[in-house]
Amino acid sequence: MAEVVIVPSAAAAGVLVADEIAALIRRQPDAVLGLATGSTPLPVYEALRPRLTGIDVSRVRGFALDEYVGIDPHHPESYRSVITREVVEPLGLNPDLIHTPNGSLETIEHAGDDYDRAIADAGGIDLQILGIGTSGHIGFNEPGSSFASRTRVKTLIEQTREDNARFFDSIDDVPMHCITQGLGTILEARHLFLLAFGENKAAAVAGAVEGPVTASLPGSAIQLHPHVTVVVDEAAASQLQDADYYRYAFANKPDWQGL
Ligand code: PGA
Repeated sequence: MAEVVIVPSAAAAGVLVADEIAALIRRQPDAVLGLATGSTPLPVYEALRPRLTGIDVSRVRGFALDEYVGIDPHHPESYRSVITREVVEPLGLNPDLIHTPNGSLETIEHAGDDYDRAIADAGGIDLQILGIGTSGHIGFNEPGSSFASRTRVKTLIEQTREDNARFFDSIDDVPMHCITQGLGTILEARHLFLLAFGENKAAAVAGAVEGPVTASLPGSAIQLHPHVTVVVDEAAASQLQDADYYRYAFANKPDWQGL
């Protein structure tokens, strides 16, 4: 099963994951990162910045999880803009090597296949950062998504549009459709880090980690992956049945094992 690490704060989670990413880039300068947007990964990117000092990041490659369909890529809330602002610029990455799915309507019919091919051509994703929605989605794979799904267009559920309305002037401005890496695509990454903070994520986290494996809670797909690290604060861990065991296992983790 996934390793669950319960940390005191989102900042502590950021440090833990950033240390892993910095170590990965040090040993593999052309590492392929799976990048997430939203509030959850921000502490990771923040902690990563000082850890990259003196490390050559010019060959680091990256693939975002998802993008809105039909949004102007220059819109401040397009995921292309968000990734540029929150990841590429602060970390000094080469923008030509950092990809987001193409949400343009002109090419949308084959944009999913193009994206999966680009990931495969890059040799696959080494380390994938994931948040989880209150609906249990990972990427924008809303409940009902096939575990075999590839990058494709999905319709956002109302709950997700409400959750994301904070980034827009009003909910009416939140796009209805997105293009997201599929669950099958995400499961091909070599190491998944699923992060969640706050009480409102507790049910989704418990379902993903300990619930039945079900398309009704897409995050539960992580149970099918051999190398997953779930990093949560106390509030997001509050509905986990086996929280004490996870704490015990992490406190007694052999040094040689790593994450
Ligand atoms: P959040 O979104 O990080 O903004 O909470 C997570 C998600 O919807 O996957």
